[in-house]
Amino acid sequence: MKVLVIDGCGRKGNTWELTQCAVDAIRGKYPDTVFEELVLAKINLPLCTGCSNCFRLGHEACPHYGTMKDIIKKIDDSDGVIICSTTYNFRETGYIKNLFDHMCFMLHRPYFYKGKALVITTAGGVGQAQCAESIASSLAGIGFNRCYKSSFASVSWNAYEPREKDIRKITQAALKFASDAASGKLHSPKLKNLMPYNIMRGMGQHYTSDSEYPTMDGIWWTAPERRNAAYFPQVKISVFKRLFGSVFFALGKALGGFKNTKVTYRK
Ligand SMILES: Cc1cc2nc3c(=O)[nH]c(=O)nc-3n(C[C@H](O)[C@H](O)[C@H](O)COP(=O)(O)O)c2cc1C
Repeated sequence: MKVLVIDGCGRKGNTWELTQCAVDAIRGKYPDTVFEELVLAKINLPLCTGCSNCFRLGHEACPHYGTMKDIIKKIDDSDGVIICSTTYNFRETGYIKNLFDHMCFMLHRPYFYKGKALVITTAGGVGQAQCAESIASSLAGIGFNRCYKSSFASVSWNAYEPREKDIRKITQAALKFASDAASGKLHSPKLKNLMPYNIMRGMGQHYTSDSEYPTMDGIWWTAPERRNAAYFPQVKISVFKRLFGSVFFALGKALGGFKNTKVTYRK
């Protein structure tokens, strides 16, 4: 199994220590696991400029595509991703926020259908769970199939030593994540994930290449393999979920058809 460890911290501190506990636990149970580390603080990904090329023209037109292409490939090539973040101001670090800003086009066109993730966060004492939730909701938005969260209060600036109960907790979360990642199982999506997926599918029908404002969303959602599917074609869903998705597809299509909801841009 291949696990990509995305280090979203500014330094190798408390959060990294717990991340190492997770790596050790996985290595102990799955000795053949290959870990790759991606340290966001070291890759010099510039801030998203807000050009919106990714939404309109496709992410290949992002000014930072050279870096983003490699990151997307690393996630694609892995069976699971561990993503760790220190909590700053109740949220993820700027490194992670910036990474997700570059992947916002996947909120319109969810992509990582087989993604499995373990999110590890620490805070001094407040906000560690909000930080993990913020990361997990971004991962769900870009398509991730399952996300495990483990957050901790370090109650320390520089002298944190994981307590026994912290080690037990991170080990448990790591092994749950690893077992799921190793299985390759694609879980059926939650209803709350089917809603945005299908609203975007519905709205996307209005942005085809022969429309007034063609975008990559239109091309993506009218591709034969996606146009009529209530979720990623690779993931099996029940008849009920298909129907549920169709309702939100119809809603998105209706919403996208109104004059004042049409997304315009200067040509
Ligand atoms: C800029 C900054 C913002 C922080 N914001 C919070 C916070 O919102 N809540 C909190 O409890 N601790 C906060 N802390 C404390 C750290 O989250 C905490 O010490 C963490 O365990 C440090 O992790 P690290 O050693 O991996 O960097 C903050 C620390 C810094 C430097």
